Amino acid sequence: MRAPRLSRREALAGVAIGAVAGGAAMRLADAAESAAPQAVRPFDGPRQAGIVPPPQDHLTLAAFDLHTPDRADLPRLLRSWTELVVALCGADPVAHDTGERTGLALGRLTVTVGFGTSLFDGRYGLGARRPAGLAPDALPGDDRLDPRRSGGDLLVQVRGDDRQVVFHAVHQLTNAALGIARRRWTQHGFLSRAGSGETPRNLFGFKDGTVNPGADDDAALARHVWVASGPLTGGTYLVYRRIRMRMQAWDRSSLDVQEHAVGRRKAGGGALDGGDERAPLALRSAPPRSHVRLAHPDANDGVRMLRRAYNYDDGATADGEPDAGMAFLCFVADPARQVGSMLTRMERHDELHRYLVHTGGGVYAVPLAPAPGEHLGEELFR
Ligand code: HEM
Repeated sequence: MRAPRLSRREALAGVAIGAVAGGAAMRLADAAESAAPQAVRPFDGPRQAGIVPPPQDHLTLAAFDLHTPDRADLPRLLRSWTELVVALCGADPVAHDTGERTGLALGRLTVTVGFGTSLFDGRYGLGARRPAGLAPDALPGDDRLDPRRSGGDLLVQVRGDDRQVVFHAVHQLTNAALGIARRRWTQHGFLSRAGSGETPRNLFGFKDGTVNPGADDDAALARHVWVASGPLTGGTYLVYRRIRMRMQAWDRSSLDVQEHAVGRRKAGGGALDGGDERAPLALRSAPPRSHVRLAHPDANDGVRMLRRAYNYDDGATADGEPDAGMAFLCFVADPARQVGSMLTRMERHDELHRYLVHTGGGVYAVPLAPAPGEHLGEELFR
């Protein structure tokens, strides 16, 4: 049932070569792709799926807390999740249930597993294994987030084009955790026509995801996304923020004010002084307090990130305002350096920030795909 995968040695070679020369890691992944019998694969070559390839239409993030007193339950759970990921994204999807998914297309399903900061807090003797990028209150404003929507020992990111297939995947992962871990929070997200090749739009109507390292830009991925050393080598960090967008305040702002807050045109996504969406944006063409100016690499010591934001709609807040916004997701090699300082700048100077309320979030270590015979994260806990 397992799809062909690369050995750990090949995978790590891919990481090292990618970091030095670029190109190799993705070529290894491409080789795995051409060897795979089906379009959906549990892992993206040496890496977990659901990171670099373009986004799907639907997202569910599910965070779990361990409640078992037995440390041995953690590898047990990770082994069953590993088998489940292979089964869910493999050729025989009904192997682990009684056919609930019968007749539904896989729809580019991916499952990504990450480990939260609290997993390394000492309850399970893992304190010394904590990856350097996970630290309590790593990001500014973490202390103001709602704990019921934040953190968690484990995170699964499930994405796919069919909402029901995504549901079943999350449901089965939850079932496999029964008695060991329970759901802490869940966040659903959606995008319109994510697979069309066009940049999706956020709920403010702007194209979102234009500036991102390309899937074949190995040098940029090696520099900004993959961790270069330590137990998480070749993996990455998933940084999540649940950001409510103040839709009513936005609706009261003119198009001109909106475009000056973002720093790009709403309709076409180009710079304010002309050019199309894909034209490189010169720093001086964006207003000083605009979002794209403050987030631009030239204003952030060259920092870039792989963004994978989704829209969410959770009804209304207690005040009757729309509880809708962005499940902001990005993958980075160093959360504090790449995301922390940008969040501080945004909070202090960004015009767009006036329309945003950060309500939840977390940072999660995402290890490589498991080596043959191993489970997800085994390397991290050995
Ligand atoms: C609801 C919150 C947010 C909204 C509505 C939003 C919207 C946008 C839009 C419309 C763009 C321009 C198009 C593009 O390049 O994708 C953009 C770019 C960008 N955003 Fe955000 N964003 C949000 C939150 C964040 C956060 C929290 C971060 C980082 C901590 C961030 C980092 C970036 C970066 C790095 C760029 C690319 C800048 C460049 O190189 O030109 N954004 N965002």
